[in-house]
Amino acid sequence: MRFAILGHLINKNDINDIPKKWIKNDIILSPEANINETKGHIIGIKLTAKDIMSLPQNQVREIILNAAVYAQNELDVELIQLGALTTSVTNGGEWLLGQKEFKGFVNHGDSYTAVVTCHAVHKALEKFEKKPSDLSIAIVGAYGIIGEAVSKILVPQFKHSILIGRREEKLLELEIKIKGNFETTIDLKTKEADVIITATNHPKALLDSQHLNKNTIVIDVSQPPNLSYEVCKKRKDVIRIDGGYVDFPPKYHLPIPGMPLGKNFACIVEVIMQALENERENHVGSVDINHLRKTEKWGEKYGFTLNELTNFGKPI
Ligand SMILES: NC(=O)c1ccc[n+]([C@@H]2O[C@H](COP(=O)([O-])OP(=O)(O)OC[C@H]3O[C@@H](n4cnc5c(N)ncnc54)[C@H](OP(=O)(O)O)[C@@H]3O)[C@@H](O)[C@H]2O)c1
Repeated sequence: MRFAILGHLINKNDINDIPKKWIKNDIILSPEANINETKGHIIGIKLTAKDIMSLPQNQVREIILNAAVYAQNELDVELIQLGALTTSVTNGGEWLLGQKEFKGFVNHGDSYTAVVTCHAVHKALEKFEKKPSDLSIAIVGAYGIIGEAVSKILVPQFKHSILIGRREEKLLELEIKIKGNFETTIDLKTKEADVIITATNHPKALLDSQHLNKNTIVIDVSQPPNLSYEVCKKRKDVIRIDGGYVDFPPKYHLPIPGMPLGKNFACIVEVIMQALENERENHVGSVDINHLRKTEKWGEKYGFTLNELTNFGKPI
């Protein structure tokens, strides 16, 4: 099954890192990638994270739909992955699925991202010889698609959890889905946590030095990152880990502009694995934990796993 990864620019300057021949009139288009004879492309829309979250939603959705229809009609793509914030503005992909012009399958890739996020937490705790049952964790963006899936898995393992969002009513809905010792809050109470996961659609950095306890471990899944390089430089005690990164054999040659060689985003990898499996299903909206466990097994089967923790691409 042919796939396309639909992404966007994080910042305006990112366009400078993209090979010139990828840049077309309306979109950015990679050469065809070939992964064990399963083929696809990366398609970029020319909007930044800030554009996506601030322009009128109809306008952004139309640009996303045009790119998906282009992939379907011109590139024979049957499976679209909604990368980064294209998930947030399409109601977790459900909106795209409802458009009659697009007849293919849609996956946000958040299931395997949640798996890899949990793996990163466990790997980091092992490395620093800590046990979740002794620690507190804060999850920022806790009722988002990734946040909810990660909360379901990790909250029961930690001593205490602080589930953070912006809307009280969504936090109340979350409370009935989660088991374990937790509180929910609209305050950015991350300073009380030993481990922080960020999974927000905030279009820039969110955590400052005052939000971080000494020696906190931050798994920063958000794209754009919620903990900046500058704050990391100031706070040497804080351990920031790139969230949702997977080790990806360079032999497959699917270079994501700005991504270190040998790494890839878990959401992209999920859709590649779905295409390799020829699984003709949609994965939109809330994560189905059975599907999430399936992606974990696919990761083991294909060897796209998390071997090395990094911070802004550099090994920790
Ligand atoms: N590393 C990877 O491989 C990978 C893969 C996929 C996605 N991502 C990134 O992961 C992030 C989450 O993705 P998603 O699909 O789960 O998005 P989502 O479903 O849209 O969830 C994002 C959540 O963040 C919340 N939020 C925004 N600003 C906040 C703030 N200041 N404080 C607390 N909560 C806030 C939103 O709350 P409201 O609904 O109330 O606005 C929303 O519930 C995005 O940045 C995306 O780009 C990374």
